[in-house]
Amino acid sequence: MFGKRKNTKELLVGLDVGSTAVRIVVGQIVATGEKPELQIVGAAEVVSEGVHRGVVTSIEDTVSSISACIDRAERMVGTPLQRAWIGISGSHILVEQSKGVVAVSKSNGEISEEDVERAVEAARAVATPLNYEILHVIPKNYTVDGQIGVKDPIGMTGVRLEVDTQMIQGLSAHIKNLTRAVYRTGLDINDVVLSILATAAAVTTERQKELGVAVVNIGGATTSVVVYEDGDILDTAVLSIGSEHITADLAIGLRTSIDVAERLKLQYGTSLVKEVAKDDRVDLSDLGAMEKELVDRRYIAEIISARAEEILERIDKVFKKVGKSGRLPAGVILTGGGSKLHGLVETSKDVLRLPVTVGYPLNITSSTDKVNDLAFTTAIGLVRWGALYKENDSHAFDGLMNRFKSVTKVKDWFKNLMP
Ligand SMILES: Nc1ncnc2c1ncn2[C@@H]1O[C@H](COP(=O)(O)OP(=O)(O)OP(=O)(O)O)[C@@H](O)[C@H]1O
Ligand SMILES: [Mg+2]
Repeated sequence: MFGKRKNTKELLVGLDVGSTAVRIVVGQIVATGEKPELQIVGAAEVVSEGVHRGVVTSIEDTVSSISACIDRAERMVGTPLQRAWIGISGSHILVEQSKGVVAVSKSNGEISEEDVERAVEAARAVATPLNYEILHVIPKNYTVDGQIGVKDPIGMTGVRLEVDTQMIQGLSAHIKNLTRAVYRTGLDINDVVLSILATAAAVTTERQKELGVAVVNIGGATTSVVVYEDGDILDTAVLSIGSEHITADLAIGLRTSIDVAERLKLQYGTSLVKEVAKDDRVDLSDLGAMEKELVDRRYIAEIISARAEEILERIDKVFKKVGKSGRLPAGVILTGGGSKLHGLVETSKDVLRLPVTVGYPLNITSSTDKVNDLAFTTAIGLVRWGALYKENDSHAFDGLMNRFKSVTKVKDWFKNLMP
């Protein structure tokens, strides 16, 4: 997959600024065996401050969280990190379809790469709402003189070339706050990538995307979803609900602190009410509560399953919107810290009526066991995205920074915003 290029020792850095943690993964492409592989050489995480519901709410706090995480990662890999692929999330993300149409430029009608580029550029020119920036323009299908469903039009003959794209946009203010916080740490930015797309790049195969699959990342404050079919993105959404809501429900339901509720969720939490023995109890004072208090574990599971089902129903709504509720042959891949909840895979199968698995990153080797932590999937995905970008000319991997041939232009735009 990572053929051709020689530049093997360059470090690829993924930075995931989440609501509960900031995570950095460092990787490199190594050419050992038959084909080059992605090797993870470092991973670090720190508690995140200054990020709420996936967006930066305090630049200063975010800068110190990212800086602390960079320090840790640098100590691990032994070299300073220069630049990173950064993920963006949040409910401000918009997805729209957009069409670009151009006349084929060569007189013999042979479609060139340049024509394709112009068509994608034309799709981009469609009016974006005020205050939004385009993050990705992802070509889906091409139409050559009325022949629809063309996947790769280069070399074909025609007069008129159309492209259907998926346009992903984010609120300028949120994008600027995130990039500003990253630049202030001294780290340069390779590109800004919609987090769930990077996550999906880490956990899905091309075949699954052809058949129809969804990738769901359950984070602390947000849940991101992307649905694929025929290799294309059908839809993507960021929902303002996550695993922290389960914790909050436990705190309210049991009249205890958030910290105790969180520990309770991590140690005793399950979404499978029936699996809990009837008079099984937990003493909250063992989890840091001031006073001894016995709580029925069934009751805990009931609170958890109610919220878990709500999250899953919201996910199903996204599937419904594109006509895929209960109809994804390759099923649903769950990832993110929230997907570590005991019983969630089972509950998801019931609610979504689909095959469900948890998604660990595919085709990587690693010197750290963080790759087996579902909370690291997005950061790993960003590294994978960087590797794919280096190996592909496809527009599918273009983001905010690579939208013009002269990348520096956008960079300057961001840098001008710095104090
Ligand atoms: N073993 C576990 N069981 C249940 N929940 C867990 C477990 N481990 C982590 N979580 C929950 O996962 C959530 C954090 O997930 P994650 O680290 O993916 O979020 P994030 O990326 O920081 O947030 P977001 O993506 O919403 O910005 C927390 O609410 C945490 O309680
Ligand atoms: Mg996350």
